[in-house]
Amino acid sequence: MIRPEAWKIHNPTGRHRVIATKRLVGTRWVELLAAHDCRVEVYDAEDMFGEEDLIAAVGERCDGALGQLNEPWNERVLTRFSDAGGKVISSYAVGVNNIDLAAATRLGVAVCNTPGVLTEATAELAVALVFSAIRRVAEGDRYMREGRFEGWLPSLMLGRQVAGRTLGLFGAGRIGQSVARSLAAGFGLDVLYFNPHPRPELEAYVADLAVVAKKHGHRLPSIRRTEDVDELFREADLVVLLSSYTPQLRHLVDARRLGLMKPAAVLVNASRGPVVDEAALIAHLRAHPEFTAGLDVFEFEPRLVDGLTDLPNVVLSPHTGSATLESRSAMATLAALNCVGALHRWPANTSVPTTELAADPTRQLVPSLLNAKELSWPAG
Ligand code: GLV
Ligand code: GLV
Repeated sequence: MIRPEAWKIHNPTGRHRVIATKRLVGTRWVELLAAHDCRVEVYDAEDMFGEEDLIAAVGERCDGALGQLNEPWNERVLTRFSDAGGKVISSYAVGVNNIDLAAATRLGVAVCNTPGVLTEATAELAVALVFSAIRRVAEGDRYMREGRFEGWLPSLMLGRQVAGRTLGLFGAGRIGQSVARSLAAGFGLDVLYFNPHPRPELEAYVADLAVVAKKHGHRLPSIRRTEDVDELFREADLVVLLSSYTPQLRHLVDARRLGLMKPAAVLVNASRGPVVDEAALIAHLRAHPEFTAGLDVFEFEPRLVDGLTDLPNVVLSPHTGSATLESRSAMATLAALNCVGALHRWPANTSVPTTELAADPTRQLVPSLLNAKELSWPAG
């Protein structure tokens, strides 16, 4: 339930009415919006917004919205938003599968996201989940808190090693590439990746790492792209899911693909929950105690499928991939700039890294406008 008293108004005399369904991290974002003639209405509480809540928040007049990744910006909501004068949905996320992009484009509504500034943060969490799962970090923590540690034992919390194994990366975007670089450089992993197009820059990076490793007598990492998803699941010791979400990817990881995986493999999902058939995953984790998983996203988020929390061989985190102070602060700046820029019809950025725009938000560019081309938006 949304509570009217939770709305806080900044710069009440601003000409553009902008709603923010959550208070973002830091204060620069709200200062930027206010400095560009926006009246900013911030929902300063943790309640989640459903369809009716968004429609109520949009009201009769609304120029821009700073939205969250778990809000249903579907055709009905977008139509009401457009009728209210809405020009831009600026999402505080990189993944925009919750926004009907086609409907927004038809209605002339700009859709913006925050790529680039959350790459390392999200890669760090994906890598953390790999290690937590395979080295049983969370399980060990529970064991300690339960007072069960009675001394060192040869096979206490025996996990498997990460070094020298094969990473199977599903989705080699910015985040996936960062995961691949860190595991290949840090632990000499071989990288097998599936991505719609080749990533020559990543391949060159790993090839250069191999040169350095050879010079210093370490194991040489390798990299190869595959067009065969099944091969990725068969060959990899660690499968990390980092693709953006489309409905075609629903249950990409089902009972059959889990069956292809090595018995002691690790599966990490930092993409979107529905990529994994969670009921099938639970059955697989039960049947294969050596198999481990790390999940940052959930099929029916925020609800967990029955049985998941009973399993020792899965590590759960509450969709916190980008949750670092650095990343969330920069995302807030980008989200504000996207909104301001779209309202003022600044050119859509095609040339400056979003990290630079977030660090120095004085350039008059819309950092990341996803439907710029379809809307014939001027580019800069
Ligand atoms: C997080 O999942 C995001 O899409 O930013
Ligand atoms: C997100 O920024 C990605 O490209 O993976």
